[in-house]
Amino acid sequence: CSGLEIRRPALGFNTWNAFYRDINETLVQQQANLMVSLGLRDVGFEYLVLDDCWAEKERPADGRLVGNKRTFPSGMKAMGEYIKGRGLKFGIYSDAGSLTCAKYPGSLGYEKEDADTFASWGVDYLKYDNCHARRDYWILDRYAAMRDALNATGRPIVYSLCQWGVMEAHLWGPKMGHSWRTTEDIRPTWDSVLKTLDYNVGLSRFAGSDVGWLDLDMLYVGNDTGLRLGEQRAHFALWSLYKSPLMIGHDLRDFPKQSLSILLSKEVIAVNQDDLGVPGDLIWRQGHKRIYAGPLAGGARAVVLANFQFAHPTAFQQCPRTNITVFWGQIGLQPGQRARVRDLYEERDLGEFVDSFTGSVEAHNVLALRVTPLNGPLDDGWRPWHGQ
Ligand code: GLA
Repeated sequence: CSGLEIRRPALGFNTWNAFYRDINETLVQQQANLMVSLGLRDVGFEYLVLDDCWAEKERPADGRLVGNKRTFPSGMKAMGEYIKGRGLKFGIYSDAGSLTCAKYPGSLGYEKEDADTFASWGVDYLKYDNCHARRDYWILDRYAAMRDALNATGRPIVYSLCQWGVMEAHLWGPKMGHSWRTTEDIRPTWDSVLKTLDYNVGLSRFAGSDVGWLDLDMLYVGNDTGLRLGEQRAHFALWSLYKSPLMIGHDLRDFPKQSLSILLSKEVIAVNQDDLGVPGDLIWRQGHKRIYAGPLAGGARAVVLANFQFAHPTAFQQCPRTNITVFWGQIGLQPGQRARVRDLYEERDLGEFVDSFTGSVEAHNVLALRVTPLNGPLDDGWRPWHGQ
Protein backbone atom coordinates (compact mmCIF):
# COMPACT_ATOMS: atom_id res chain seq x y z
CA CYS A 1 0.00 0.00 0.00
CA SER A 2 0.97 3.60 -0.39
CA GLY A 3 3.16 4.78 2.48
CA LEU A 4 1.28 7.94 3.38
CA GLU A 5 -1.68 7.59 5.72
CA ILE A 6 -4.57 9.75 4.70
CA ARG A 7 -7.40 9.49 7.15
CA ARG A 8 -9.66 11.96 5.34
CA PRO A 9 -10.57 12.72 1.72
CA ALA A 10 -8.47 15.54 0.20
CA LEU A 11 -10.11 18.95 -0.17
CA GLY A 12 -8.88 21.55 -2.63
CA PHE A 13 -9.03 23.24 -6.00
CA ASN A 14 -8.05 21.68 -9.34
CA THR A 15 -7.45 23.76 -12.48
CA TRP A 16 -8.98 21.41 -15.06
CA ASN A 17 -12.76 21.95 -14.91
CA ALA A 18 -12.24 25.71 -14.57
CA PHE A 19 -9.50 26.37 -17.16
CA TYR A 20 -8.77 23.15 -19.06
CA ARG A 21 -5.49 23.66 -20.97
CA ASP A 22 -5.24 27.35 -20.39
CA ILE A 23 -3.27 27.70 -17.16
CA ASN A 24 -0.40 29.97 -16.19
CA GLU A 25 1.49 31.25 -13.20
CA THR A 26 -0.53 34.43 -12.65
CA LEU A 27 -3.83 32.59 -12.87
CA VAL A 28 -2.71 29.96 -10.35
CA GLN A 29 -1.42 32.67 -8.01
CA GLN A 30 -4.80 34.41 -8.19
CA GLN A 31 -6.63 31.18 -7.38
CA ALA A 32 -4.30 30.58 -4.42
CA ASN A 33 -4.98 34.06 -3.06
CA LEU A 34 -8.72 33.62 -3.55
CA MET A 35 -8.74 30.26 -1.76
CA VAL A 36 -7.54 32.23 1.24
CA SER A 37 -9.56 35.46 0.89
CA LEU A 38 -12.86 33.70 0.13
CA GLY A 39 -12.47 31.63 3.30
CA LEU A 40 -12.06 28.31 1.49
CA ARG A 41 -8.74 27.46 3.11
CA ASP A 42 -10.26 28.05 6.52
CA VAL A 43 -13.00 25.46 5.98
CA GLY A 44 -10.45 22.88 4.85
CA PHE A 45 -9.79 23.30 1.10
CA GLU A 46 -6.01 22.97 1.23
CA TYR A 47 -4.64 21.42 -1.99
CA LEU A 48 -4.18 23.56 -5.08
CA VAL A 49 -3.69 21.07 -7.90
CA LEU A 50 -2.23 22.03 -11.28
CA ASP A 51 -3.82 19.62 -13.72
CA ASP A 52 -2.61 18.84 -17.25
CA CYS A 53 -0.64 21.36 -19.40
CA TRP A 54 1.81 22.76 -16.85
CA ALA A 55 4.89 21.19 -18.52
CA GLU A 56 7.08 21.83 -21.54
CA LYS A 57 5.69 19.93 -24.55
CA GLU A 58 8.87 17.84 -24.94
CA ARG A 59 10.74 16.09 -22.17
CA PRO A 60 14.24 17.69 -22.03
CA ALA A 61 17.26 15.63 -23.09
CA ASP A 62 18.33 14.96 -19.49
CA GLY A 63 14.96 13.32 -18.83
CA ARG A 64 13.95 15.78 -16.07
CA LEU A 65 10.51 17.35 -16.47
CA VAL A 66 10.35 21.14 -16.38
CA GLY A 67 7.46 23.57 -16.15
CA ASN A 68 6.39 25.34 -19.32
CA LYS A 69 8.86 28.23 -19.61
CA ARG A 70 6.40 30.57 -21.27
CA THR A 71 3.38 30.05 -19.00
CA PHE A 72 5.26 29.31 -15.74
CA PRO A 73 8.35 31.53 -16.16
CA SER A 74 9.40 31.29 -12.48
CA GLY A 75 9.43 27.49 -12.60
CA MET A 76 7.49 24.87 -10.71
CA LYS A 77 9.43 25.00 -7.46
CA ALA A 78 8.63 28.70 -7.19
CA MET A 79 5.00 27.97 -8.09
CA GLY A 80 4.86 25.48 -5.22
CA GLU A 81 6.49 27.93 -2.85
CA TYR A 82 3.95 30.58 -3.74
CA ILE A 83 1.09 28.16 -3.03
CA LYS A 84 2.62 27.02 0.26
CA GLY A 85 3.27 30.62 1.20
CA ARG A 86 -0.51 31.00 1.33
CA GLY A 87 -0.81 28.12 3.78
CA LEU A 88 -1.96 25.73 1.05
CA LYS A 89 -0.51 22.49 -0.36
CA PHE A 90 0.86 21.95 -3.84
CA GLY A 91 -0.64 19.37 -6.21
CA ILE A 92 0.47 18.40 -9.70
CA TYR A 93 -0.59 16.03 -12.50
CA SER A 94 1.09 13.36 -14.57
CA ASP A 95 0.19 10.22 -16.48
CA ALA A 96 0.95 6.49 -16.40
CA GLY A 97 1.43 6.45 -20.18
CA SER A 98 3.89 7.95 -22.63
CA LEU A 99 1.86 11.18 -22.91
CA THR A 100 -0.72 12.89 -20.72
CA CYS A 101 -4.30 13.20 -21.99
CA ALA A 102 -3.46 16.61 -23.49
CA LYS A 103 -0.25 15.18 -25.02
CA TYR A 104 2.37 16.52 -22.65
CA PRO A 105 5.13 14.12 -21.49
CA GLY A 106 3.84 11.20 -19.42
CA SER A 107 5.77 9.41 -16.69
CA LEU A 108 5.83 5.86 -18.11
CA GLY A 109 9.44 4.67 -17.85
CA TYR A 110 10.38 7.85 -15.94
CA GLU A 111 8.56 7.13 -12.69
CA LYS A 112 11.62 7.45 -10.50
CA GLU A 113 12.93 10.61 -12.20
CA ASP A 114 9.51 12.27 -12.07
CA ALA A 115 8.75 11.30 -8.47
CA ASP A 116 12.16 12.70 -7.46
CA THR A 117 11.50 15.87 -9.45
CA PHE A 118 8.08 16.34 -7.85
CA ALA A 119 9.52 15.76 -4.37
CA SER A 120 12.29 18.30 -5.07
CA TRP A 121 9.62 20.86 -5.99
CA GLY A 122 7.82 20.20 -2.71
CA VAL A 123 4.79 18.52 -4.30
CA ASP A 124 2.20 17.24 -1.78
CA TYR A 125 -0.33 15.61 -4.12
CA LEU A 126 -0.09 13.81 -7.47
CA LYS A 127 -3.05 13.16 -9.74
CA TYR A 128 -1.97 10.29 -11.99
CA ASP A 129 -3.89 9.76 -15.24
CA ASN A 130 -4.15 6.85 -17.66
CA CYS A 131 -3.98 8.22 -21.22
CA HIS A 132 -1.58 6.98 -23.92
CA ALA A 133 -0.90 3.81 -22.00
CA ARG A 134 0.88 0.87 -23.58
CA ARG A 135 -1.41 -2.11 -23.78
CA ASP A 136 1.46 -4.56 -23.26
CA TYR A 137 2.22 -3.04 -19.87
CA TRP A 138 -0.35 -3.98 -17.23
CA ILE A 139 -2.24 -1.09 -15.63
CA LEU A 140 -1.49 -2.31 -12.10
CA ASP A 141 2.24 -2.37 -12.81
CA ARG A 142 2.15 1.13 -14.27
CA TYR A 143 0.32 2.53 -11.24
CA ALA A 144 2.45 0.53 -8.78
CA ALA A 145 5.65 1.88 -10.38
CA MET A 146 4.69 5.45 -9.52
CA ARG A 147 3.38 4.48 -6.07
CA ASP A 148 6.76 2.87 -5.25
CA ALA A 149 8.68 5.80 -6.71
CA LEU A 150 6.68 8.27 -4.61
CA ASN A 151 7.22 6.18 -1.49
CA ALA A 152 10.95 6.00 -2.22
CA THR A 153 11.22 9.80 -2.17
CA GLY A 154 10.40 9.76 1.54
CA ARG A 155 8.13 12.77 1.02
CA PRO A 156 4.46 12.30 1.94
CA ILE A 157 2.62 12.78 -1.37
CA VAL A 158 -1.08 12.01 -1.74
CA TYR A 159 -1.45 9.61 -4.69
CA SER A 160 -4.71 10.24 -6.54
CA LEU A 161 -5.45 7.63 -9.21
CA CYS A 162 -7.27 8.92 -12.26
CA GLN A 163 -7.90 5.87 -14.39
CA TRP A 164 -11.42 7.12 -15.16
CA GLY A 165 -13.27 4.08 -14.02
CA VAL A 166 -11.53 1.56 -16.24
CA MET A 167 -10.51 -1.83 -14.88
CA GLU A 168 -12.91 -1.80 -11.93
CA ALA A 169 -10.66 0.43 -9.89
CA HIS A 170 -12.58 -0.21 -6.68
CA LEU A 171 -11.03 -3.70 -6.73
CA TRP A 172 -7.39 -2.55 -6.98
CA GLY A 173 -7.40 1.15 -6.14
CA PRO A 174 -7.60 0.48 -2.39
CA LYS A 175 -4.22 -1.26 -2.46
CA MET A 176 -2.66 1.38 -4.65
CA GLY A 177 -3.54 4.99 -3.92
CA HIS A 178 -5.38 7.31 -1.59
CA SER A 179 -8.33 7.70 -3.92
CA TRP A 180 -9.37 6.29 -7.27
CA ARG A 181 -11.66 7.73 -9.91
CA THR A 182 -14.74 5.60 -10.43
CA THR A 183 -16.14 7.20 -13.60
CA GLU A 184 -15.27 8.98 -16.81
CA ASP A 185 -14.95 12.77 -16.78
CA ILE A 186 -17.82 14.62 -15.17
CA ARG A 187 -19.55 17.29 -17.29
CA PRO A 188 -21.28 20.45 -16.04
CA THR A 189 -24.76 18.99 -16.50
CA TRP A 190 -27.35 17.47 -14.19
CA ASP A 191 -27.37 14.29 -16.31
CA SER A 192 -23.68 13.86 -15.73
CA VAL A 193 -24.04 14.36 -11.95
CA LEU A 194 -26.80 11.73 -11.89
CA LYS A 195 -24.83 9.32 -14.06
CA THR A 196 -21.86 9.62 -11.70
CA LEU A 197 -24.07 9.00 -8.67
CA ASP A 198 -25.75 6.01 -10.26
CA TYR A 199 -22.42 4.48 -11.17
CA ASN A 200 -21.24 4.70 -7.57
CA VAL A 201 -24.23 2.96 -6.00
CA GLY A 202 -22.94 0.01 -3.98
CA LEU A 203 -19.27 1.04 -4.16
CA SER A 204 -19.13 2.57 -0.66
CA ARG A 205 -18.17 -0.81 0.81
CA PHE A 206 -14.83 -0.72 -1.05
CA ALA A 207 -13.65 2.56 0.47
CA GLY A 208 -12.89 4.08 3.87
CA SER A 209 -10.24 5.64 6.05
CA ASP A 210 -8.26 2.39 6.23
CA VAL A 211 -8.02 1.86 2.44
CA GLY A 212 -8.74 5.14 0.59
CA TRP A 213 -11.57 6.95 -1.09
CA LEU A 214 -13.89 6.69 -4.09
CA ASP A 215 -13.21 9.71 -6.32
CA LEU A 216 -16.44 10.87 -7.96
CA ASP A 217 -14.41 13.46 -9.94
CA MET A 218 -14.11 17.19 -9.49
CA LEU A 219 -16.89 19.58 -8.54
CA TYR A 220 -18.89 21.83 -10.81
CA VAL A 221 -20.30 23.86 -7.93
CA GLY A 222 -20.14 27.48 -9.12
CA ASN A 223 -20.94 26.63 -12.74
CA ASP A 224 -24.45 28.04 -12.76
CA THR A 225 -24.81 27.90 -16.52
CA GLY A 226 -24.61 24.09 -16.25
CA LEU A 227 -26.27 23.42 -12.89
CA ARG A 228 -29.10 25.11 -11.02
CA LEU A 229 -28.37 26.10 -7.44
CA GLY A 230 -30.35 23.17 -6.00
CA GLU A 231 -28.46 20.81 -8.28
CA GLN A 232 -25.17 22.22 -7.00
CA ARG A 233 -26.36 21.65 -3.42
CA ALA A 234 -27.24 18.05 -4.28
CA HIS A 235 -23.88 17.56 -6.04
CA PHE A 236 -21.90 18.88 -3.05
CA ALA A 237 -23.93 17.08 -0.35
CA LEU A 238 -23.69 13.73 -2.10
CA TRP A 239 -20.00 14.01 -3.01
CA SER A 240 -19.49 14.78 0.68
CA LEU A 241 -21.59 11.82 1.79
CA TYR A 242 -19.71 9.38 -0.47
CA LYS A 243 -16.52 10.82 1.04
CA SER A 244 -15.12 11.67 -2.34
CA PRO A 245 -12.21 14.11 -2.46
CA LEU A 246 -13.80 17.55 -2.90
CA MET A 247 -11.94 19.44 -5.60
CA ILE A 248 -13.37 22.81 -6.60
CA GLY A 249 -13.56 23.21 -10.39
CA HIS A 250 -14.76 26.74 -11.13
CA ASP A 251 -12.80 29.98 -11.56
CA LEU A 252 -12.64 31.60 -8.13
CA ARG A 253 -12.35 35.08 -9.67
CA ASP A 254 -15.89 34.73 -10.83
CA PHE A 255 -17.61 32.67 -8.18
CA PRO A 256 -21.35 33.17 -7.65
CA LYS A 257 -22.05 34.12 -4.02
CA GLN A 258 -24.73 31.50 -3.42
CA SER A 259 -22.50 28.78 -4.82
CA LEU A 260 -19.71 29.95 -2.55
CA SER A 261 -21.97 29.51 0.44
CA ILE A 262 -22.45 25.87 -0.62
CA LEU A 263 -18.67 25.33 -0.54
CA LEU A 264 -18.42 27.05 2.82
CA SER A 265 -21.04 24.77 4.42
CA LYS A 266 -18.99 23.56 7.34
CA GLU A 267 -21.47 20.99 8.55
CA VAL A 268 -21.72 19.35 5.13
CA ILE A 269 -17.92 19.29 4.88
CA ALA A 270 -17.85 17.75 8.38
CA VAL A 271 -19.75 14.75 7.00
CA ASN A 272 -17.03 14.32 4.39
CA GLN A 273 -14.25 14.66 6.95
CA ASP A 274 -15.94 12.68 9.75
CA ASP A 275 -13.64 10.65 12.02
CA LEU A 276 -15.37 7.33 11.38
CA GLY A 277 -14.36 7.50 7.70
CA VAL A 278 -17.14 5.31 6.28
CA PRO A 279 -18.70 6.48 2.99
CA GLY A 280 -22.46 6.71 2.66
CA ASP A 281 -24.49 5.24 -0.19
CA LEU A 282 -27.96 5.00 -1.71
CA ILE A 283 -30.23 3.12 0.73
CA TRP A 284 -33.68 3.58 -0.80
CA ARG A 285 -35.22 4.71 -4.06
CA GLN A 286 -38.74 5.02 -5.33
CA GLY A 287 -39.32 6.84 -8.61
CA HIS A 288 -37.61 10.18 -8.30
CA LYS A 289 -37.28 10.03 -4.49
CA ARG A 290 -34.02 8.79 -3.06
CA ILE A 291 -32.45 8.44 0.35
CA TYR A 292 -28.69 8.34 0.75
CA ALA A 293 -27.16 7.71 4.18
CA GLY A 294 -24.02 6.78 6.07
CA PRO A 295 -22.82 6.37 9.66
CA LEU A 296 -20.92 9.08 11.52
CA ALA A 297 -18.58 8.82 14.49
CA GLY A 298 -20.43 8.50 17.80
CA GLY A 299 -23.57 6.82 16.42
CA ALA A 300 -25.15 9.67 14.42
CA ARG A 301 -26.15 9.29 10.76
CA ALA A 302 -25.75 11.55 7.77
CA VAL A 303 -28.91 11.38 5.67
CA VAL A 304 -29.56 13.06 2.32
CA LEU A 305 -33.17 13.18 1.15
CA ALA A 306 -33.10 13.77 -2.60
CA ASN A 307 -35.84 14.76 -5.03
CA PHE A 308 -34.55 13.99 -8.53
CA GLN A 309 -37.78 14.34 -10.45
CA PHE A 310 -37.83 14.72 -14.21
CA ALA A 311 -36.03 17.89 -15.26
CA HIS A 312 -38.58 19.36 -17.66
CA PRO A 313 -39.49 22.95 -16.63
CA THR A 314 -43.20 22.18 -16.46
CA ALA A 315 -42.49 19.46 -13.91
CA PHE A 316 -40.82 22.08 -11.74
CA GLN A 317 -43.91 24.28 -11.93
CA GLN A 318 -46.47 21.55 -11.36
CA CYS A 319 -44.62 19.65 -8.71
CA PRO A 320 -41.95 21.83 -7.16
CA ARG A 321 -41.64 19.86 -3.89
CA THR A 322 -42.17 16.37 -2.61
CA ASN A 323 -42.26 14.77 0.85
CA ILE A 324 -39.70 12.11 1.62
CA THR A 325 -39.71 10.02 4.83
CA VAL A 326 -36.71 8.29 6.31
CA PHE A 327 -37.56 5.61 8.88
CA TRP A 328 -35.09 4.92 11.68
CA GLY A 329 -35.09 1.23 10.71
CA GLN A 330 -33.58 2.19 7.34
CA ILE A 331 -30.57 3.83 8.96
CA GLY A 332 -29.86 1.28 11.67
CA LEU A 333 -31.57 3.11 14.56
CA GLN A 334 -34.19 1.52 16.82
CA PRO A 335 -37.81 2.30 15.96
CA GLY A 336 -38.57 3.81 19.40
CA GLN A 337 -35.42 5.90 19.50
CA ARG A 338 -35.68 9.65 19.86
CA ALA A 339 -33.30 11.55 17.63
CA ARG A 340 -32.42 15.17 16.91
CA VAL A 341 -32.60 16.09 13.23
CA ARG A 342 -30.44 18.94 11.98
CA ASP A 343 -30.40 20.64 8.59
CA LEU A 344 -26.71 20.83 7.65
CA TYR A 345 -26.93 23.54 4.98
CA GLU A 346 -29.16 25.73 7.16
CA GLU A 347 -27.15 24.84 10.31
CA ARG A 348 -30.42 24.60 12.17
CA ASP A 349 -32.07 21.93 14.35
CA LEU A 350 -35.41 20.82 12.93
CA GLY A 351 -36.57 19.15 16.16
CA GLU A 352 -36.67 15.79 17.90
CA PHE A 353 -38.38 12.87 16.23
CA VAL A 354 -39.25 9.28 17.08
CA ASP A 355 -39.29 6.48 14.46
CA SER A 356 -38.99 8.64 11.35
CA PHE A 357 -38.56 12.08 9.83
CA THR A 358 -40.38 13.54 6.84
CA GLY A 359 -38.87 16.41 4.88
CA SER A 360 -40.26 18.48 2.06
CA VAL A 361 -37.65 18.57 -0.69
CA GLU A 362 -37.53 20.83 -3.74
CA ALA A 363 -37.18 19.32 -7.21
CA HIS A 364 -33.53 18.74 -8.12
CA ASN A 365 -32.43 19.52 -4.60
CA VAL A 366 -31.70 17.77 -1.33
CA LEU A 367 -32.17 18.07 2.40
CA ALA A 368 -28.82 17.24 3.98
CA LEU A 369 -29.40 16.06 7.54
CA ARG A 370 -27.65 14.83 10.62
CA VAL A 371 -29.72 12.43 12.72
CA THR A 372 -28.37 12.11 16.26
CA PRO A 373 -29.95 9.53 18.59
CA LEU A 374 -30.74 10.97 22.03
CA ASN A 375 -31.57 7.76 23.87
CA GLY A 376 -30.95 4.05 23.39
CA PRO A 377 -27.84 2.49 21.87
CA LEU A 378 -25.28 4.70 20.09
CA ASP A 379 -24.24 2.21 17.47
CA ASP A 380 -21.81 3.28 14.75
CA GLY A 381 -21.53 -0.27 13.37
CA TRP A 382 -24.38 0.19 10.92
CA ARG A 383 -23.31 0.34 7.25
CA PRO A 384 -25.35 1.56 4.28
CA TRP A 385 -25.00 -1.76 2.54
CA HIS A 386 -26.56 -3.72 5.42
CA GLY A 387 -29.92 -4.94 4.29
CA GLN A 388 -29.05 -4.85 0.57
C1 GLA B 1 -8.45 13.26 -18.22
C2 GLA B 1 -8.88 13.36 -16.75
C3 GLA B 1 -9.32 14.78 -16.45
C4 GLA B 1 -8.18 15.74 -16.74
C5 GLA B 1 -7.72 15.57 -18.18
C6 GLA B 1 -6.46 16.35 -18.47
O1 GLA B 1 -9.53 13.45 -19.08
O2 GLA B 1 -9.90 12.43 -16.48
O3 GLA B 1 -9.72 14.88 -15.10
O4 GLA B 1 -7.13 15.49 -15.85
O5 GLA B 1 -7.44 14.21 -18.49
O6 GLA B 1 -6.01 16.19 -19.78
